[in-house]
Order: sequence, then structure tokens, then C-alpha cells
Amino acid sequence: MSAAEALRVQPGPSLRGVVTPPGDKSISHRAILLAALAQGTSRVENLLVAGVTRPMLNALTALGVPWRLHETTLTVESPGPQGWRAPRAPLHCGHSATTMRLLAGALAAAGVPAVLDGSPGLRRRPMRRVTEPLRAMGVPIIDTDGHAPLTLAARPSGQPLRGGTFRLAVASAQVKSALLLAGLAAATPVTVHEPGPSRDHTERLLQGLGLRLAFPAAHTVTLHPPQGPLPPLRLRLPGDISAAAFVLVAALITPGSQVVIEGVGLNPTRTGLLDALQRMAADLTVEPQGEAYGEPYGRITARYSPQLHGTTIRGDLVVRMIDEFPILAVAAAYAQGPTTVREAAELRHKESDRITALAAGLRALGVPVEEHPDGFTILGRAGVAGGRAHAHGDHRLAMALTVAGLAAHGPVEVLGAGMFRESYPGFVADLQRLGARVAWRPGEGAA
Ligand code: S3P
Repeated sequence: MSAAEALRVQPGPSLRGVVTPPGDKSISHRAILLAALAQGTSRVENLLVAGVTRPMLNALTALGVPWRLHETTLTVESPGPQGWRAPRAPLHCGHSATTMRLLAGALAAAGVPAVLDGSPGLRRRPMRRVTEPLRAMGVPIIDTDGHAPLTLAARPSGQPLRGGTFRLAVASAQVKSALLLAGLAAATPVTVHEPGPSRDHTERLLQGLGLRLAFPAAHTVTLHPPQGPLPPLRLRLPGDISAAAFVLVAALITPGSQVVIEGVGLNPTRTGLLDALQRMAADLTVEPQGEAYGEPYGRITARYSPQLHGTTIRGDLVVRMIDEFPILAVAAAYAQGPTTVREAAELRHKESDRITALAAGLRALGVPVEEHPDGFTILGRAGVAGGRAHAHGDHRLAMALTVAGLAAHGPVEVLGAGMFRESYPGFVADLQRLGARVAWRPGEGAA
């Protein structure tokens, strides 16, 4: 994927039609890993098959866990963690921190020695937040100055891990999940307390598998380690609201648009963007339709919203929309009045420094942005002039900057935009089907 891959957007046409977003990325990671930790044949439908989930599937191969994929249906035939073999080479997690952190927890439970490594971008992301509590549980894991590569030594068989209470400094579903997965092999309960409501997919899946979890206080979960093996999974994943978010905001900002998003996950720990947009007077209809494996899903209709106005986002809402700030910023650029995001310093530790990279990308398109240590302010009113911006190796920036062009005053070119394949391979095709003029162009001078 080269920086010279560019997406070019000609603003104008209204967007109309129905979109079914790909399977949820977070739940896909967990489903793959839990299927490998279970004993027997698991079947997962509507898996996200994309750049970001490949490393997790490759890890299963390296661990000797057979799997096959038919379109988006995954079948895993696992011997259970006691049958995992030590991988012969480092497990390459690509750009995916979720893969690395969740795998660390699962390998800890299995007691299998392994090295976890990733792309230069992934090597920059903080890992001590996961290695430190794992070590406190008795996991023989070391990081490299707080980063990947991570090295896990073998754990003597029959020696369980230690449970206990872990208080996370930052709300993080990845860290919480790593500890809960390691907790599957603990002798005593594992309690994780977070400062905010991070996504709870791991908890819902484990409960769906019949495990005993308790929620003794706000943002606190206790796992009671199971006595026997995990049973296999049978589930169909909801669509990813973090992918749907791009199409949804595209409809809100593009005159004359109406887009229906079907089968999308509506887990309340993930729907912060909908709350933020509704505060901004977005014309959205959300229709819950059911629940699968404890995960609510439904339909969202988004209509052109010329009346969008700015808002302030901080506190728990930040956690509930942690991946949605690039696309929120695009909605804010088309809104009347300023939108301010604070208490979101965690954005500096995502696929890019999402505060600086987002500010640079939007400024390149003519949007005035003020950067704060823990957030940003978009002044609003001005809309998007057009121009050429860079995705900075970040799939969500690539898609957000592309959407920004749909209602701009002039054409927009996003360099390095091929990153969208990491989490939403159908992004360009979906926009084109809705009527957008988005096309590939060989980028020039992409530095
Ligand atoms: C994820 C949790 C979030 C999110 C990431 C996926 C997960 O990260 O940003 O895209 O699947 O648990 P943190 O847990 O680091 O906040």
C-alpha cells in the first residue's frame, strides 16, 4: 500500500440508497480469538475480512489452529488452547493494536511462548499498559521499552495465573480484554476497573458462551475463571458502526442525500457518535431491530442536515466514540459554530497521532482547526474548500478526508488513501453506488 495511492473526490451529487456495512472489526477480532480458545468447531458469519483481521487469522495458522473462510463465514476447528503449538516465527500483527493486545492476553492464557511484532506504526503504540498488568498476573511477558516487539515465555503447564483487581489509568477495551482473556487461565477472579465506559464486546461474548461475569461497580467487570474448556461459538456479527459512520456523515453533509444503513451494531458503548450528531441537530433515525449474542443491532437513516451546529465533547462520550473523531471533525467542518473536543488525549495513541494528523489533513483542505493537548476545535461555518491531504497511514483519516470532499467547494485528493482497505474494503464501492464521484488516481509527488 503506497502513499502514492490516492482517492479523488469530485463534490456534488446527492447520495441515495442502502448500505450494509461490513462485520464489526472489534467483534471480529474477539470472535476469531475466542473460536481458537474454544474446543470444537466454531462458525462466525459476517466476519470483517479486511487488512486488519488478516494478522489474527494468520496467527491462528501459526498456532496450529485450523480455520477456513468462505466469503465472510469463518469456521475454526480448534483443539483448545492446550493444543496450540508455539509459533516458529514472530506473529506479525500488521497495523493492528487490537490483534497485538488481545493476542497477548490469549497467549498468556494458553501459556504458549511467542513473539508479537508489527508494522513501524504499530511499534510506536504504547504496550506497557498491557504488559505491566499481565506481568502482575504472573505472565512471563516483556516489551521493548514499552513497545512491540513483545516476548512471551512458556508458562509451566498446570501453573495457573493470578487473579486480582486491576485499575486502568486509561479506559481501554483492548487492555481490559487482554486481562479478561488471560483471566480464563487464572486461579481466582480477575476484576478490571476503568475510568470510563470502554466497549464491552468481550464481556458480552464471554457471557454468551456461558461464563460467569459480574459488574460490581460502574466501569468494573469481574470474570470468574471457567472450570472447563470454552464451548464453540455460533454467531452472526452485526455491521460495524465505526465503518457506517463514514457513510452516515457523508449523507448528513451532502445536499439532497438520504442513506439507509442496515444491520448495524448499536451497542451503547459504541454509539457515542450518534449522540454527538444528534446534539448537533443531525437528521438521523435510529431503529433498533434485535439482539444477537447480546449485541443490539438495527437500521439508521441519515438525511442531509443543513442545520448542523457545533457542540462540545468530553468525558464518557469521548470513550463511547473513540474511533469516530476523524469523521466527527468532518461533520463539524460543515456545522455552524465551533465544535470542541477535550479530554481526548488518547487520540494521540491511535493509528496516527489523530489530533495532529487530523488537524493537518483538514487544514490542507481549507478547514480552520485549533489543536489542543487533549483535543481540537473546528471553527465551523467555512465548510471545506478542497485540495490535497494525506492519510498519514491511518485508515480512518483516509476515509474521513475522502468524505470531507463530497460537499466541498472544489475537488479533494487524499494521498495514501488505500488504507481504507484495513477496515472497510467496500468503502469506495459503497460511496460510488450511492452516487458519489470518488475514483482512484495515481497520486503525484506523494511524500
Ligand atoms: C478497540 C478498542 C479501542 C479502539 C480500537 C478497537 C477494541 O482501542 O480504538 O479501534 O476492539 O477493543 P482502545 O482499547 O485502545 O481504546
